[in-house]
Amino acid sequence: MDKYVINGGNKLYGRVKIQSAKNSVLPILAATVLTDESVKILNVPQISDVKNMVKILNCLGCVAQYENHDIVINSANATSYEIPSALAHELRSSVFLLGSVISRFKRAKIAYPGGCDIGLRPVDLHLSGLKRLGVNIVENNGYILCDAERLIGNEIMLDCPSVGATENIMLAAVKAEGTTVIKNAAREPEIEDLQNFLNLLGAKICGAGSGTILIEGVKKLSGGEYLPIADRIEAGTFLIATAMCGGEICVEGALAENISSLIHKLRENGCKLHVKNDKITISSKKPLVSVKSIETQPYPGFPTDLQAQMTALCCICNGNSIVTENLFETRFKYVPELRKMGADVTVIDRNAFVRGVPRFKGATVIAQDLRGGAALVLAGLAAQGRTEVLDISHIDRGYESFEYKIRSLGGDIIRNKM
Ligand code: UD1
Repeated sequence: MDKYVINGGNKLYGRVKIQSAKNSVLPILAATVLTDESVKILNVPQISDVKNMVKILNCLGCVAQYENHDIVINSANATSYEIPSALAHELRSSVFLLGSVISRFKRAKIAYPGGCDIGLRPVDLHLSGLKRLGVNIVENNGYILCDAERLIGNEIMLDCPSVGATENIMLAAVKAEGTTVIKNAAREPEIEDLQNFLNLLGAKICGAGSGTILIEGVKKLSGGEYLPIADRIEAGTFLIATAMCGGEICVEGALAENISSLIHKLRENGCKLHVKNDKITISSKKPLVSVKSIETQPYPGFPTDLQAQMTALCCICNGNSIVTENLFETRFKYVPELRKMGADVTVIDRNAFVRGVPRFKGATVIAQDLRGGAALVLAGLAAQGRTEVLDISHIDRGYESFEYKIRSLGGDIIRNKM
C-alpha cells in the first residue's frame, strides 16, 4: 500500500490539464455493451475505478483496452450476463451494467455494488425503475438477479433525483420498445454527456440536463468515437487546493458553468477567478474569508463530491462556517483526521461546524474514502510541516497522477510505500 508524504507550505503556480470525468466515463463504458460495433472513448483517466470497469467488460466477453489515454471497446462477442462479484464489490458503478446487460442479454446477475463507504447508498430506485420497464428482479444472498422477456418503455417517476438510477434507466430504455419518460431525473452534466454519447451511436434521447428525460427506443446502436466532458470534481479540487495554499493556477479543459456553485463560493472566500472558454484561472492571497454556510445539493447545487475539500478550506478561513451534507449519511469521516492536523471542527448529524484556525499542522492521517482523502492531501499541502496521508488507494480511484500534477504546480508531495 502507498502513502503520500507532503511538505506543506508551498504556494501553487502554473497550469493543470483536466481529464475526462470519471462519472461520465463509467456509465459510458457500461453503455458500450449495448452495441456490436467498435467504440473509442477519448482522454480517459487511468484511475482504478475505470480500470475495474474495463476488467468487468472483459469478463463479460467484451474486448476493452486502453490505448494510451483512450479506451477502445468492442462488445460484439460479449457472452456473459454475470458481473463478477469481486469486481462489483470494488466498484459501485458496476451497478450501471444492470441496465445495459439486461438490455443485451435479457438477463443479468450482479452482487451488491461497493464503492466509497459514504452512507447507505441503496439501489432501490435503480431496481424499481427497471421493474417499470418489465424487468423481473429477485434479490438473493447478496445478489441481484434480473430477467425480462421484453423491455417496454414506461413512465418512471424517481423519488429523488439519483444520478446512478437515472443513468441505469436510460441504459435499459435505449433499446426498449416504445417510449420511456424519466421524471424527477438527476440533472448532473454527466447525464447529459451520457445522452450525447448514446445519441452519437443512434439513440433517440432528449431532455437530459433537465428534470424530464424522454427516450424513444431504437433497434440498434452503432459505433463511434467520443470525448466525454472534463472532470469538474478534479478541476474543483485543484481550484480549492490553490485557494488554500495561495498562488495562481490555470485549470485547463474544464467548463466553469459545471462548477459555478464552487466558483461563487471561492469568490466569497476572497479568491479571484477568471473564466475564459475552457480555462479557469484562480489567484488566492491569504487570509481567506469564511463563507457562512455551504450545503451540498443535487446539481446545480454545491456538489457533495467537493464537500470534503471545501470543508478543509473552511478550516483555515478567518471566521466560522457550517457545512451541511444533504446527500450521503457518513461523508464526514475525514473530519477526525483533519482534527489531528489542528482543525477545529465538530460534526453533529449532517452538519460540520467549523471554527477557522490560522493554519494546519503536519500530521499522519488516514484516507477513508476518495474525496475525503483528497481533502487530507489539500490540508497537507497548506499545512506547516510534514504530513503523511496513508491508504491512498482510495485517492487512486478518482485522481490520475495526482502527485505529478500537484508537483508540476510546485507542491512538495511524493508517493512512498507504507
Ligand atoms: C453519483 C456519483 C457520485 C456522487 C453522487 C451524487 C457516479 C459514478 N457517482 O453517485 O460521485 O457523489 O452521484 O452526486 O456518478 N439513493 C437512493 N436509492 C437509490 C439510489 C440513490 O435512496 O436507488 C440516494 C442515495 O442514498 C443518496 C442520493 O440518492 O442519498 C444520491 O445518490 P445518487 O445520485 O444515486 O449517487 P450515485 O449515483 O451513487
